[in-house]
Amino acid sequence: MPDDSDPSRSGLPFQGRTIALVGLMGAGKSTVGRRLAEKLGRKFFDSDAEIEKAAGLSISDIFALHGEADFRRGEKQVLKRLLDLPPHVLATGGGAFIDAETRAVMKEKAVTVWLNADLETLWRRVQKRNNRPLLKRADAKAHLSNLVSEREPFYSQADLNVQSKDGPHTNTVNSILKSLQTWTPT
Ligand code: S3P
Repeated sequence: MPDDSDPSRSGLPFQGRTIALVGLMGAGKSTVGRRLAEKLGRKFFDSDAEIEKAAGLSISDIFALHGEADFRRGEKQVLKRLLDLPPHVLATGGGAFIDAETRAVMKEKAVTVWLNADLETLWRRVQKRNNRPLLKRADAKAHLSNLVSEREPFYSQADLNVQSKDGPHTNTVNSILKSLQTWTPT
């Protein structure tokens, strides 16, 4: 039986494109993205890490010292640069795909994959780290819940929608690979 998730199967349209993961904080974009890249033998980039490198500051410090608007400007620039690189796997910050211009460039240059998870899963995961300025507030869970509602109409514009469940990351990686095989350029 041929293995449906075998990334070495050649000639599929997604192979010429960057695979960009979008979705909320805690969806697993970075962890899953890194493993997906390994499996495909591609480079992996994380837009947040690239922004931090360019600014010489952590995301929290960028928000604290320069504000969210400045962070968003940097995010837009960094993503445009990354999307011009040869096909790779790209984990994007949760707000990136909400910006109309960034979304259009991502849709043009990448296969976009919404890593979708329910609120309880997202909340459980984001609590493990304290590095997300948007969640440093007393009503963090309610805010995350608002972000889920506000952002879903944008994330749902991604080319593919893959559920990010708890359990081994390889399950999510394999779901993405399976879904990628159905993708055709529009
Ligand atoms: C943000 C998500 C974060 C980071 C920043 C803002 C957002 O990235 O870009 O804190 O607006 O959802 P992750 O989605 O990787 O946590």
